[in-house]
Amino acid sequence: MSSPLPRFCSRGLTLAAMSLYAPLGRGANRKAGDVSDQAKRVLLIVGGGVAAYKSLELVRLLRKAGVGVRPILTKAGAEFVTPLSLSALSEDKVYSELFSLTDEAEMGHIELSRSADLVVVAPATADLIAKCANGLAGDLASTTLLATDKPVLMAPAMNVRMWLQPATQRNLETLRKDGVLFVGPDDGAMACGEFGPGRLAEPPVIFEAIMAALEGPAARPLTGRHALVTAGPTFEPIDPVRGVTNRSSGRQGYAIAGALAKLGARVTLISGPVSLPTPLGVDRVDVETAREMLAACQAALPADVGVFVAAVADWRIDEVFGTKLKKDKSGPPALTFVENPDILATLSATGPQRPKLVVGFAAETDHVEEHARAKLARKGCDWIIANDVTEPGVMGGEENAVLLISRDKTERWTRAAKDSVAHDLAKRIAESLS
Ligand code: CTP
Repeated sequence: MSSPLPRFCSRGLTLAAMSLYAPLGRGANRKAGDVSDQAKRVLLIVGGGVAAYKSLELVRLLRKAGVGVRPILTKAGAEFVTPLSLSALSEDKVYSELFSLTDEAEMGHIELSRSADLVVVAPATADLIAKCANGLAGDLASTTLLATDKPVLMAPAMNVRMWLQPATQRNLETLRKDGVLFVGPDDGAMACGEFGPGRLAEPPVIFEAIMAALEGPAARPLTGRHALVTAGPTFEPIDPVRGVTNRSSGRQGYAIAGALAKLGARVTLISGPVSLPTPLGVDRVDVETAREMLAACQAALPADVGVFVAAVADWRIDEVFGTKLKKDKSGPPALTFVENPDILATLSATGPQRPKLVVGFAAETDHVEEHARAKLARKGCDWIIANDVTEPGVMGGEENAVLLISRDKTERWTRAAKDSVAHDLAKRIAESLS
C-alpha cells in the first residue's frame, strides 16, 4: 500500500483543485455513476460509526466537484446510513458483500479495489484501522484495502478512549509507515458525551484532503514549510473599556494565510481583533496589542517565511488606566504615547532564527513606491508588498492593487480580488523557497 503521495493532516489543504474538476452535467442520457473521462475517481469505504452520516455530505461535495464516487458500505456502516442514500448521492451502485454472486460477477473485489485513483475510508473506525494495519481481509472493506495498489486516505472517527488506546495508536503508526494518508480526527464534543480527539474531520476538510491527494505533491509545493502570518489591526487599551485601533479588516492577511495553507504550508496566523473565520488548515493565535503580537510571533519561530500584513499600532498609551476614565471637572485626560516595537524589523533581525523570506506590507497614501522602498531598507525585510490605500475599495474592501518591491526590482500587479493577490503571492513565496 506504499504511496507516492505525502502524508498530511487536516491543515493546509487545497480548494484550488475544485476548478480542475468541472461539475458534471445532469443530462438525461447519463448512466448512474457516469463521470467524465478525465475526472478522478474515489472508492469510498463508509465504516460503522455515528459520524457515518457525514459521509453523505462528503459524497455530495465530491460529486459536485465532478469526482466519481463508488461506495463500499460496511455492515456496521449500514446501521447508520442506508445504501439507498449513498447510492442516490453517489449515483453509483453501493457494494457491501464480499461473497455476493452478483457483485462479484459485475465487478470482482480486486477490480473494485483498483477501479479508483484513491481509496478513502470515512469514517475510519478503530476496527477498520486495526484490520488494515494487520492485513486482515474478512469482509469486502478490509479485503479491498488489502488488495488495493492505490493511495489510501483515512478519516478516523471513534470515541476518545478508543483513539488514545495504545493499540489504536500502534495501528495508526503502522499505517503511517505504510504510506496511508490521514485527515483528522478533530478535537471536540462527541456523540457519546465525551470530549477530546476522535471526532471525524468535517466533510469540507476531508474533501480538501481528497482533492489534495488526487492532485499529488506538485500542487502543494510548500509541504513541510512553516509560514508565519500577522493580520488585522492591533488594539492598544486606554482603560478597561477604551482603546486605540485602526480600520484594518484583516482580509488580506487571512487570505494570504489561507493561500499558503492551500499550497501545503503549516501556517501560524497571529491575528489582531477581527471578525473573520479562520481559513481552513490554519493555526490561529489571537492577540490584542502590538507587544502581544510580537511575543506570539517570536514564540512561533522558527519559520521558513514570515508575512507581516498586520496594521500594527505604532504607539500605545504609556500607562493604561486601571479603571474606567470618568468625565470629571478636570477635563479630558492627557494621554502620553510611547512607541510600540516594530514586529517586522525585529523579526527581520532575529539572527539564525530569521525566516528565510521576510515579507512586509506597506499601506501608503502618497509616493507609494518611494516610501515602500525606504521601508524595505529601514526594516531589513526581503520584499515589501505596497498598496495605495487611497484607492477606493482597498482599505476594508475586497480588492487590492499592489507593488511587489524587492531589493533590485519593482513589479506592478494589476488590481485584483484580495484572494487572487493572496494566491499569487503564495505562489511567488513557494517559488522563492524552492
Ligand atoms: N509593522 C510591524 N510593527 C510595527 C509597525 C509596522 O510589524 N510596529 C509592519 C507592518 O505589519 C507592515 C510594515 O511593518 O508589514 C509596514 O507597516 P506600516 O504601518 O506601513 O509602516 P510603519 O513603520 O508604521 O510606517 P509609517 O506608519 O510611518 O508609514
